[in-house]
This record gives sequence, C-alpha cells and structure tokens, in this order.
Amino acid sequence: MKVFAVVPAAGLGRRLGAGEPKQFLPLAGRPLLVHTLERLHTWPRLCGSVVVAPPEQLERVRGMIEGAGLTGVLAVVPGGEERQDSVALGLRALEAAGATDTDVVLVHDAARPFPPVHRFDALLEAALPDGALLAAPCADTLKREHSGTVADTVDRSGLWQAQTPQAFPVALLRRALDAARKQGVRGTDEASLVERLGCRPRLVTGGASNFKVTRLEDLEMAEALVRSSTPGVGAAPRVHLGHGYDVHRLVPGRRLILGGVEIEHPLGLQGHSDADVLAHAVADACLGAAGRGDLGRWFPDSDPRWAGVSSLTLLEEIAQGLRESGHTVQRVDATLVAERPKIAAHVPAMEQHLAGALGLEPGAVTVKATTTEGLGFEGRQEGISAHAVALVTGPAARLASCS
Ligand code: CTP
Ligand code: MG
Repeated sequence: MKVFAVVPAAGLGRRLGAGEPKQFLPLAGRPLLVHTLERLHTWPRLCGSVVVAPPEQLERVRGMIEGAGLTGVLAVVPGGEERQDSVALGLRALEAAGATDTDVVLVHDAARPFPPVHRFDALLEAALPDGALLAAPCADTLKREHSGTVADTVDRSGLWQAQTPQAFPVALLRRALDAARKQGVRGTDEASLVERLGCRPRLVTGGASNFKVTRLEDLEMAEALVRSSTPGVGAAPRVHLGHGYDVHRLVPGRRLILGGVEIEHPLGLQGHSDADVLAHAVADACLGAAGRGDLGRWFPDSDPRWAGVSSLTLLEEIAQGLRESGHTVQRVDATLVAERPKIAAHVPAMEQHLAGALGLEPGAVTVKATTTEGLGFEGRQEGISAHAVALVTGPAARLASCS
C-alpha cells in the first residue's frame, strides 16, 4: 500500500480578500503553498502529491514548486468550481500517476501551512476501512446566532472541528466524490461525503497549530509562527547535518593533493580525478546534508570528463547545484587521517581553498589532521582517509523512492 496526497489549492480566498488567492501570499518571503508542501513532504511515508491549482495559474505554481526544489510533487493540475471538484480532479491525476484502489490518499488544504506530521502515522493507521480525519475537540462555548443576538447555547460536548489531512482508501474517496456529484451534494470536507455512503470515518486529534488561513488575522499568526524559531512550529530555515568519508590509496608517481593544496611527497593518491580525498569527504558531507546523493552519482568515475579533474572544480559544481535546490552550506569541519606527510603547515591553505570552492567565508571550513600512531592502513602509509561533517540549511531532504 502506497500513500499519496492531494493538495487542493484552487480556491480564490474570498474571505481573506487579498486580491490574490491566499495560498500564494508570502509567508516569511515564500508562498504559503510552498510552506505547506515542504512540511507535508517531510513525512517519509508520502510517496508523492498532486497539487490542484487555479487553471490560469498552473505555470506559476509549477515555477514555485520547482524554485523550492520540491521533488515529491507528481503533477500540478487545474481545479474546479467547488473544493470537491478540485479534489476529484486531483484524485484523477493521482490515479493517472499510478495510485491504485487500495492505496491511501491524504487530502490536505493548501491553506493549512502547519500540518502536524507527527500525527500522520496515527491518521494512516485509522484510515482503513472507512477513512479518518484530523480534528480538534471544540474548546470554546458555542452560540447560535439570530439577528446579532444569542438564540441558543449549543452543547459543545462531543463536537469536533474538522481539519485536514483527511485520509481515505483511493477507491472509497472516488466513490464518495462520484456519488456527491451525481446527487448534486456539496460538502465542505471529504469526510462528510464519505459519511453519506454510510461510512464512519475515525477522528484523530490534530493540533491548534493546524489552523486554516481564512482571514487576515490567520495570515498574521502564520507569519509569526514561521518566523519564530520555536522547534515544531515551522521554524525556517531548516538545518541539516551531513557526513562524508573517503579513502584513497598512496602510490608512487602521483601528485599528492589535499584540500586543493599540492604537497611535496614521494607518494600521491590514486584515483580517477586528482584523488583529493579531503575535498571528496567534504563534498559527500554537503551532498548528504541536502539529501542530494553522493560524489559518485554526480561525477561517475566511468565518465572521461572527470579524469584528472581538480576536485575543487567538482566542489564548485556541487555548491552551485545545491544553491539551485535552495540549500546553503553554512559550515564544514573535516579531519584528515595520514601518518605522513605532516599536514599542519598546509591546513590554512586547505581551509581557504575548500571555503572558496563552496563560496563560503574563510572560517566556515575547518580542517584538522591526525595520525593513527602507526596503526591500520593509514599508519602503514598505504592510504589516506578523510572524514567531514557539514551543516546545510534549506528544504528538507526527500526520499528518492518509496515502496
Ligand atoms: N479549494 C480548491 N478549489 C476550490 C475551492 C477551494 O482547491 N474550488 C481549496 C483552497 O485553495 C484551500 C482549500 O480548498 O486550500 C480550503 O478551502 P477554503 O479555505 O474555503 O479556501 P478558499 O475557497 O480559497 O477561500 P474562500 O472560501 O474564503 O474563498
Ligand atoms: Mg472556500
């Protein structure tokens, strides 16, 4: 069973009245929709999503998604008149993209930028067979109004406010949407349409931060939450840690290049490129933090273009690629493990070269060196190894595939 999402984002935002749909308004400088999708896609079970957009804004929305480096979005499709029409069109696109009857689909409002991802496993577990939805028990006393006065106080016990995501088996949601269309029924959420089939979707507690941006004050609250650095409420930017490790063999007849610095030594490192083991560990740490694979995937050693190439050039390309996916390398720390030659005198130059290749301020890259006191392959001077860690900010790393 796979899990997908449909994100309806084709509404006009009339109640907010900003002159443009609320899901495209900036939150801390980035479209609200992007915040919603980024958060949704941090859930590792999610195999992909379909975004439903206003028909005349498809290209704009695709641009937003691409600009944010959101690789999990399978399609952006035009929406319909009513929310449920948009969901039906999204579901059709999801089925065209490979979702089957027994897969589960999460429908989540684009206008809810803080989906509580930590509740999603419970939601998924509750979704079979009748569907499930996140909801919050009513906290305030409820009044029924008549001409500006209180006509009645409504007993709030047992009353819940429906949120999204709402999760259903694909076949059940399709059946509910088809039946509603045929009967001319309109629902403000999917669960109400599923209930009409005689099903009883289960309630799973969501949270107060999973509010829907409907009016201006909601937008202001969302902005404050995104800007606050409190963990768990949409703090931006996200910080990622990556680790890199590499080993190259020491052989006669090769130059020894470490951190872009050529060092006088009777032995050099063997490899397809210049075999700069330190630069390679740094590259893998940066790629790992951004969830963008590893050096071998970017520059296969079967490719003659990389024969003898300076590893600093490879590092520059990686830094550029990461910038394009919205990632910024903030800090790198590395350790070289070599018995000989003595490294200390070369460390400042290595730090400078590596920082330069990554486009960082001097000081953002630190290099240390150690021997292994004669132990192991480094100690026997058969090879040199390097370790590195990198701190990178930017969009969450995504799963390359799912099963
Ligand atoms: N939605 C949609 N297609 C529609 C109507 C709504 O995809 N025809 C989406 C909205 O973009 C939003 C979600 O459904 O992400 C929840 O709807 P709502 O809060 O009502 O948004 P709007 O319809 O845009 O706002 P309003 O009702 O104030 O016009
Ligand atoms: Mg609406």
